[in-house]
Amino acid sequence: MKFTIKIASPEKLKTGLLALCVFVDAPLPPASQAVDESCLGKLSGFISSGELSEKAGSVLLLHGLAGVSAERVLLVSLGKSGSFCDKAWRDAFAAVGKALADTPAKEGTVMLEETALPPGRDLTWALRQTGRIIADHAYKFDAPRSKKENGNTKRGARKVTFLLSSEPGSLQKEALFHGQSIAAGMALAKDLANLGANICTPDKLAETALALGKQFKFEVDILKRADMEKLGMGALLSVAQGSNREPRFIVMQYHGHEQGKGDKTHKGSRPRPIVLVGKGITFDSGGISLKPGAEMDEMKYDMSGAASVIGAFQAIALMELPIDVVGLIPATENMPSGDASRPGDVVRSMSGQTIEILNTDAEGRLILCDALTYAERFKPDCVIDIATLTGACVVALGRIPSGLLTTDDALAIELTQNGLDSGDRVWRLPLWEEYQELLKSNFADMANIGGRFGGAITGAAFLSRFTGAYKWAHLDIAGTAWLSGDAKGATGRPLPLLGEFLIGRAKARGH
Ligand code: BES
Ligand code: MN
Ligand code: ZN
Repeated sequence: MKFTIKIASPEKLKTGLLALCVFVDAPLPPASQAVDESCLGKLSGFISSGELSEKAGSVLLLHGLAGVSAERVLLVSLGKSGSFCDKAWRDAFAAVGKALADTPAKEGTVMLEETALPPGRDLTWALRQTGRIIADHAYKFDAPRSKKENGNTKRGARKVTFLLSSEPGSLQKEALFHGQSIAAGMALAKDLANLGANICTPDKLAETALALGKQFKFEVDILKRADMEKLGMGALLSVAQGSNREPRFIVMQYHGHEQGKGDKTHKGSRPRPIVLVGKGITFDSGGISLKPGAEMDEMKYDMSGAASVIGAFQAIALMELPIDVVGLIPATENMPSGDASRPGDVVRSMSGQTIEILNTDAEGRLILCDALTYAERFKPDCVIDIATLTGACVVALGRIPSGLLTTDDALAIELTQNGLDSGDRVWRLPLWEEYQELLKSNFADMANIGGRFGGAITGAAFLSRFTGAYKWAHLDIAGTAWLSGDAKGATGRPLPLLGEFLIGRAKARGH
């Protein structure tokens, strides 16, 4: 999808589809007003007669409106002006994205009216969000079907023009591109997660990272089983030992501080990198603690954390962010077999701490703990791990926010704000010392499960034992990384959140 920005009056614009977002109970914003005048009040007529629902995101598609050059006008509801908020605005632009993805028109135009932005939001914010939302709606998984779906594949605008009422600054042009880059990262993450585990293997994740590194010229190293053995990654290897597929440990390093923008200020003193760690279980059968059969297919998504880290690298590289980022992905299957680890096994992690495996289905933390120890060597500014870690997190929070667990209040505040800004929200759960007691083992330094209660927290409490050397936050995306039911598929979350975080960090470095 190609994006451009234009300053023009919308009523005279020749376009396949013109999207206008309006309140149902307030005067039209200026550009929509101009269109309304050209068609002799048709738009305001539809609105005042209640044709456009007050639910934000509802639409009215109007064909061949007399006096207007656009072939179609999509009138989109922003809801009532009194209850206007980020969500209403986002719902409206999601509807625009949906319409553009589904229209027979080859190109479309989106009017961005500065007078119709949510309280406290500016055009830069709006361009970043809308760039992402609209590009993301164009995503379609190229499913390996024997027969092509008829007709529908040809629909969707390939070119979208964003219409502004005044000349944008460089920050604003960049914001649109940033949004689009995050959507590109989301598309890659969704593709990887939607693939079956017979195709999206640990090696496939490694190959994808290698190809990305080659394309964008960042460093990628792939550690194999023998390397993991040398490093003493006993926890990761204990999960991998039940699978016939070889595990991989992916190390991506993006050095943005020396890239592009001629940043001299940090020469010599390498900034501490941000480290992203993604859970890469390409299939989670539960191992010997086998999962029940229902919906087990969804455990192909158990590498969504890994996919989001790979997607984040694509986005960072596209945006050429002037920051240093390391991506770490422990990747393996969790399978039952004669070689699989058993409940009761005790393993030694890379940190030296020993773990009693009481449930082989609590495997995410076993692979992550060794990655978290490996992260120490990069002297991180901070480490964020992203994992479909616990069903308990879905029980606690549902599918709306991702779980956020950290003992670092500043990082919690930063990520929470990033979530609000991107709409990809997180909700913090406590990670108090008291929870550590639940991981007590009679046979090792700790058990890998903490009993029936507070499962999302005990999972994070386990991880926290490997993060003493740096600032750290854990994102539990078990409820947010994919949708079940009719809309089954990966969501690309938490890339909007991570994108906001990384852009924020780049800005904080004075760019
Ligand atoms: N990958 C699962 C978590 C999960 C479950 C994600 C459902 C999405 C939907 C994880 O490896 C797991 O099995 N966790 C166990 C932990 C338990 C054994 C302590 C769980 O949540 O049941
Ligand atoms: Mn599991
Ligand atoms: Zn899992």
